[in-house]
Amino acid sequence: MADKDNDKLLDHAYDGIQEFDNPLPTWWKWIFYATIVFVPLYYWDPLGIGEGPGKEQAYEQSMAAFNAAHPKTGGTYSDDQLIAFAKDPAKVEAGKVVFTSYCAACHRPDGGGMIGPNLTDDFWIHGGKPTEMLKVIVEGVLAKGMPNWGKVLKPDQIEGAVAYVQTLHGTNPANPKAPEGAKYPPDSAAAPAPAAK
Ligand code: HEC
Repeated sequence: MADKDNDKLLDHAYDGIQEFDNPLPTWWKWIFYATIVFVPLYYWDPLGIGEGPGKEQAYEQSMAAFNAAHPKTGGTYSDDQLIAFAKDPAKVEAGKVVFTSYCAACHRPDGGGMIGPNLTDDFWIHGGKPTEMLKVIVEGVLAKGMPNWGKVLKPDQIEGAVAYVQTLHGTNPANPKAPEGAKYPPDSAAAPAPAAK
């Protein structure tokens, strides 16, 4: 509110209009400055003002939850994780869908092998550990005709594919492709015993 006694008329005039030198009240300005000070606190909320854990802690918590749901070791999977996928019926079922659509053309629907090697026997060109299968599936062997699926499939489809390929081991399909590569000791945890005939 203009205090008539203190109002100072500025000495310029535009089109005959003059103005007072009428600064904002000090208390008003201090509230304004205080809001500036509070902005970072509200914006980044490091301390968790009000309810909730605060942005930093909330971030840590959601990352921890994500990592728990997607276990990885240093950005890659361990054999144990991939073996666990092979025991998860949902993963295997999803993997079967992937295998039928993307892999069966070369490896045969039963994995017995055609253009691609037999995936049911004990012999592996690139190694029979689940992590070794994963590497071939993700990176492919382009020179030999195995596509790099890491670019095509989503991570959960790849996980399913690795799970399903493990379950093919020892299934003894009819007319399999001849063994290629080196014998890999059957992974007792992942591989079902060869079907009795
Ligand atoms: C276009 C044909 C083709 C398709 C489609 C294909 N593969 Fe292959 N795959 C191959 C060939 C050829 C090899 C052998 C590469 C070599 O000789 O090094 C191979 C190798 C592999 C191996 C390693 C076998 C070993 O003995 O080490 C795995 C595991 C595998 N493929 C899984 C898959 C999966 C899973 C899919 C589907 C997502 C798939 N492949 C789709 C052709 C194919």
